[in-house]
Amino acid sequence: MMTPVRYDFTGRTAVVTGGARGIGRAIGERLARDGARVVVWDLDPKHFDSTVNDYRPADIVATDVAEPSSVEDAFARTLDVVGHLDILVNNAGINGPIVSAWELDPKIWQRILDVNLNGVYHASRAVVPHLLERGQGRIVNIASMAGKDGNAQQSAYSVSKAGVIAFTKSLGKELATGGVTVNAIAPAMAQTELFAQMTPEHIAAGKAKIPMQRYVSVAEIADLAAWIASDECSFTTGFTFDASGGRATY
Ligand SMILES: NC(=O)c1ccc[n+]([C@@H]2O[C@H](COP(=O)([O-])OP(=O)(O)OC[C@H]3O[C@@H](n4cnc5c(N)ncnc54)[C@H](O)[C@@H]3O)[C@@H](O)[C@H]2O)c1
Repeated sequence: MMTPVRYDFTGRTAVVTGGARGIGRAIGERLARDGARVVVWDLDPKHFDSTVNDYRPADIVATDVAEPSSVEDAFARTLDVVGHLDILVNNAGINGPIVSAWELDPKIWQRILDVNLNGVYHASRAVVPHLLERGQGRIVNIASMAGKDGNAQQSAYSVSKAGVIAFTKSLGKELATGGVTVNAIAPAMAQTELFAQMTPEHIAAGKAKIPMQRYVSVAEIADLAAWIASDECSFTTGFTFDASGGRATY
């Protein structure tokens, strides 16, 4: 049997946005398993199921990443609870309906950008001065293959994730000499509650594009996130790592 790789996050603290379930939960669990104290910022803390296993975040804060004041309040509370921050995982995201661009309600377009893209900006803006002051830190943004490809019927989502990839590059350069790395992960499809926002046809078409012919597991994304957040990933910043089963061609 393969021995699981372990990183040493002893004494480290992490915030995972949207960390109550799905990919965010798996990342929080992975970081906690290797010693980190994890704080979850989630719009709906009720999504966290404490009956699944013994993973218990240090705090779960009701937060809307689309609202700067909500993020600032969450960060102040987080510092009160865990004292400092080392790792920010910008994972919170919504899909929106599967419709053509011209059929999408402009308010929904706006909300998708507010959560998926502006949320990454608001959370990064809140924590970066703190990370810089400490001279170390890791920011891991969960983008999507949609941000590289531009999926049909997912225009706002694709635009938001392309924005996350570009923001990762910009912020990575800005922080390059400050001890803080900024990287992203572009997963293909993972079976989470996000699927509830998609049609069966869209899900089947997405899977058909994956050369490995299977979904990525949330644990596989979490393993990659843990390595990016670790000291071992020391000379890469502004980069987007694919977890796409061979789908990514650039
Ligand atoms: N599942 C996939 O196939 C897939 C593929 C590529 C990328 N992603 C990305 O991974 C991330 C996580 O997706 P998931 O599949 O785990 O989804 P999910 O719906 O299972 O979980 C998302 C979590 O984010 C929270 N959330 C939503 N809006 C929020 C807000 N405004 N503020 C704070 N929290 C909020 C939700 O309450 C939920 O707990 C998203 O950014 C998504 O776009 C998912």
